[in-house]
Amino acid sequence: MSDWQGRVAFISGGVSGLGLGIAQAFSDAGMRLALSYRNEDYRASASAWFAANGREEPLWIKLDVMDRAGWAAAADAVEAHFGEVHVLCNNAGVSVFGDTAEASHADYDWIMGVNFGGVVNGIVAFLPKLKAAQGKRHVVNIASMAAYLSGPQAGIYTASKFAVRGLTESLRYNLVPLGIGCTLVCPALIRTNAWDSAFRRPAEFASSGFGAVDKAQLEQFGSVFQAGMDPHEAGTKIVAGMSAGAGLVFTHPEFAEDFKAIYEDSLAALPDEVAPPERLEVERMRREANKAALAGKAITIDDLS
Ligand code: NAI
Repeated sequence: MSDWQGRVAFISGGVSGLGLGIAQAFSDAGMRLALSYRNEDYRASASAWFAANGREEPLWIKLDVMDRAGWAAAADAVEAHFGEVHVLCNNAGVSVFGDTAEASHADYDWIMGVNFGGVVNGIVAFLPKLKAAQGKRHVVNIASMAAYLSGPQAGIYTASKFAVRGLTESLRYNLVPLGIGCTLVCPALIRTNAWDSAFRRPAEFASSGFGAVDKAQLEQFGSVFQAGMDPHEAGTKIVAGMSAGAGLVFTHPEFAEDFKAIYEDSLAALPDEVAPPERLEVERMRREANKAALAGKAITIDDLS
């Protein structure tokens, strides 16, 4: 029997794309599901998959991840329906492309608000429920390879995913001592509708600096996603990483060259000089505290001096 059998999981944006793939893989592992959605058609086709595969009908929750009151209501609804809540997966995101040097406040507010703010809202709303529950529990945050790789096409998206990475890596040090697992997931190309987010820009963020959306150009770009990984396959890899207690899951293998470049560029940028012993000691204590946290010790700033 899977170690996730009967555990209750909430997934944001869980009715299409990667979120549905994760939901399918969670269901394969025996989890009971609450899935947030916004689009009724996607909800209906997700519902059809669960019925066709003889799975328990998930609890459907309509939610805009920027809506904090909505998150609080969602967390209460999951608890009221299932009892304890054990797994939070922050998946919802928007993939918006454009020249960062042209970006408006609305571009920042929307993309950061969904991709980073949505994760923050999920954590604040659901962590008290996870802390109050017993046994195997987990937080899974979906970032992207853009959490490591910057480029000229999607600077705000990249910033939002770096932020999710920093938050998740740090949060892991706080959750492991509580007996709650924490995994950062960095996928690359997955066969989803991620490319069409710009068509769904909310009216309150209409004033974009990126210019009018060129439908033909975006659809052409969307065809690239056909080469992407199957979302259910990616979801299965995520469950395997959670089961292994991994802090980091890469779903795609094709990035060794990029990590080599990051490693070499970072080392080359360090000043070629000897650090004084007092500073070396501070960094030694920081590394020790991190290791102790992952071994289960709650760390405070007292451990850093
Ligand atoms: P998608 O566009 O198919 O799914 C995104 C989901 O987020 C949808 O369910 C959408 O309704 C939801 N969403 C967007 N804004 C929302 C809001 N304000 N409130 C609530 N839900 C909202 O795209 P995909 O690819 O499935 O994206 C899922 C996650 O995977 C995102 O965080 C994305 O950044 C990430 N990702 C996707 C990659 C890909 O190649 N498809 C690669 C790397 C990361």
